Amino acid sequence: MSSHANHDDRLTLELTTNPGLEAIVRAELTEHLAAAGLDTAAYEFPERTDKGRVPVRIAARETELRPLALRLRSIHHAIRQVAAFPLVGDDPLEIIRTRLAALALPGLDTSTTFRVSSVRSGEHEFTSMDVQAAAGAGIQAGTGAPVDLRHYDVHVEVDVVGERCLVGVRWSNHPLSRRFARPFERRVAIAANVAYALLRLATTGQAPRSVLDPCCGTGTILLEAGCIHPATRLVGVDSDARCVEGAARNLAAYGLAERGRTLVGDARELDTIADAAEAPFDAIVTNPPFGRRLGRHIDFRRFYRELLVSARKLIAPDGRLVLLADRRGLFNTACREAGGWHIRDVRIVELGGIHPGIYVLTPT
Ligand SMILES: C[S@@+](CC[C@H](N)C(=O)[O-])C[C@H]1O[C@@H](n2cnc3c(N)ncnc32)[C@H](O)[C@@H]1O
Repeated sequence: MSSHANHDDRLTLELTTNPGLEAIVRAELTEHLAAAGLDTAAYEFPERTDKGRVPVRIAARETELRPLALRLRSIHHAIRQVAAFPLVGDDPLEIIRTRLAALALPGLDTSTTFRVSSVRSGEHEFTSMDVQAAAGAGIQAGTGAPVDLRHYDVHVEVDVVGERCLVGVRWSNHPLSRRFARPFERRVAIAANVAYALLRLATTGQAPRSVLDPCCGTGTILLEAGCIHPATRLVGVDSDARCVEGAARNLAAYGLAERGRTLVGDARELDTIADAAEAPFDAIVTNPPFGRRLGRHIDFRRFYRELLVSARKLIAPDGRLVLLADRRGLFNTACREAGGWHIRDVRIVELGGIHPGIYVLTPT
């Protein structure tokens, strides 16, 4: 990838993710940029602490950067930033309308259509729908371009973060984290970018030879593992036979049936079900029930303890167990009681309003 020396040519991208995964996004992007031949002088991560947003300034052409950004697996959206301005005063929506009317948005003129999306964080007296309406009216007044919610040419993003308004153009029309259109769906499925983050934390250096998800649900973690690690064996276990059958169909839909197996069983008794030929696993990666939609009656201290004892029997000596646990206090207690594991890292991630920990464990 060629790069410009002139700092004024730099594009600012805004990459969105789940709060708590920002460091993973920076690491993934850095790898992609290095692979594309950009050295560290060609980009910078401006200091900003908006949760779930990773701004980056890069000396590269849009035509080169766009396909690279759209390959990122840890993000929801890649947005090319166009403007940022404060929203101070009595009428923030009027500020949005007038600023958008005066703004030149790349790719937008009278012959193109557009739509506006908005994400709002912080306390405001207006909704994100109000922001969309104000921004849409401003853009129409400024460019004459018509709105088309379905067949738009340009997807304008107008986000309000506290007292700032960030305007950009989305490169990703659909969330990149919803990349698996699969035959078997469940509401409890995790987003693919979170699955990617878990798998990344489970991997040190080489790709794992085998990954086990002992509470596999629809199989998101196995699908993601199958896509990022082309030779890894994939094993899923779930106590719900519909999930086991559904996850198998999902794996088949992505051409992963030959490398993958799904089995009915209990995550607390893995040694009795997982095929011994597949063990030990380099990576055991899972998001067990949180006890919100699923598993409200579970005794979590006991569940985690038994799962940890069971997983300990199948992990390779240099393997890793990475799991999401919503009941962090209970998980820490269960981990002490189970023994055999060392907690190497915990990071809190936001998933739709809840804040589980991503635990990274190695066998002692
Ligand atoms: C949060 S969901 C996992 C979602 C999954 N990561 C996905 O993307 O679809 C938790 C899963 O654990 C399963 N489960 C609950 N208790 C279990 C147990 N004791 N052993 C194995 N699976 C269990 C549930 O049936 C459910 O499919």
